Amino acid sequence: MTDLFEPLALRGVTLRNRIGVAPMCQYSCAPDGLPTEWHLAHLHSRAIGGAGLVITEATAVAPEGRITPADLGLWSDGHLPGHARLARAIASTGAVPAIQLAHAGRKASSAAPWIGGMAREHGWQALGPSALAMPGMDTPRAMTEADIHRVIEDFAATARRAIAAGYRLIEIHAAHGYLLHSFLSPLSNQRNDGWGGDFAGRTRLLREVVSVVRAAIPDEVPLAVRFSHTDWIEGGWSTEETVALARELKAAGVDLADVSSGGVLPAEIPMGPGYQVPGAAAVRAGTGIVTAAVGLITEPQQAQAILDEGKADLILLARELLRDPYWPVRAAATLGRMEAMQMPPQYDRAWNSRNKTRIDLAVAEPLPPL
Ligand SMILES: Cc1cc2nc3c(=O)[nH]c(=O)nc-3n(C[C@H](O)[C@H](O)[C@H](O)COP(=O)(O)O)c2cc1C
Repeated sequence: MTDLFEPLALRGVTLRNRIGVAPMCQYSCAPDGLPTEWHLAHLHSRAIGGAGLVITEATAVAPEGRITPADLGLWSDGHLPGHARLARAIASTGAVPAIQLAHAGRKASSAAPWIGGMAREHGWQALGPSALAMPGMDTPRAMTEADIHRVIEDFAATARRAIAAGYRLIEIHAAHGYLLHSFLSPLSNQRNDGWGGDFAGRTRLLREVVSVVRAAIPDEVPLAVRFSHTDWIEGGWSTEETVALARELKAAGVDLADVSSGGVLPAEIPMGPGYQVPGAAAVRAGTGIVTAAVGLITEPQQAQAILDEGKADLILLARELLRDPYWPVRAAATLGRMEAMQMPPQYDRAWNSRNKTRIDLAVAEPLPPL
């Protein structure tokens, strides 16, 4: 039985517990994908809340790979100082700072949900495996061989920058209909060259991205991949294919499968508590890879039961941690594990923490004058 508050070791990195902050776009960047005070406050406060892992929002490996103009990027060295600040703030609390590397593909160049969502701002030409549009969006340009090789290099270069910025776990976003998932799914990839067609062709781009990113990051840094385990559409990408691919990627040096679903086309999704957990369980059982479950996991007992039943090794939460950054503390109190919480000493008096772990204040830096 794995306890929600048991540490999790992945290569040279240890998560202090099994609770992670799932990647969440904040649509709050300065121009050109630069992090802002919002990102710092948002990620730092969730790390202070006690999660073991904090993953940034989808961070674009190229400007045209942003979902919206307000998304994070790390495609240039100019992005490094801001990201270094985010990674340092997260790490200073005892959480592991992680980054999700992403390319939005045919779902790029849209707008933040609160200013129209999929209604495009016509910012730039989106790219995809085939010239097939998401309903309601513009038709992407089918990528050339040169485009594909450039994207592979962009992932490698961005991974190197992520390490330089101080991130200690790298996640490749291959879910939700964005570029890498759109190559996996026969619903969006109708190429008949070596990057489409059968399972080997459709999975080639992700396999090559994994290979170059693994080579670009130190051995001790774990590599995660976020999958959509199913498109929820007959004839689409399937759980069986996810299991087969995860097995290959594990052999290629992927340490963690983060199992989500959907996004390549609108679908009937049977949403309910833990609705994606069966996908995580299938990947874990079929491959033996360390697996994260995500999606409508909101209750401490629910999270603990997923671990107890061997369906996942790590629990990621998104919206519940927006509502309550202190969910890990609530979970520890509910599950009778408060002694496992490491609250920052600044907040000791609030939690009556018995834990004597002290945060390294040497990392603190004076703020620039306002
Ligand atoms: C505001 C918001 C932004 C999101 N942005 C991302 C993202 O950048 N990358 C990603 O893989 N998933 C993203 N997601 C999906 C979440 O990571 C998560 O998988 C999903 O919300 C289900 O988990 P939950 O039920 O705990 O919210 C986002 C979700 C929300 C609510």
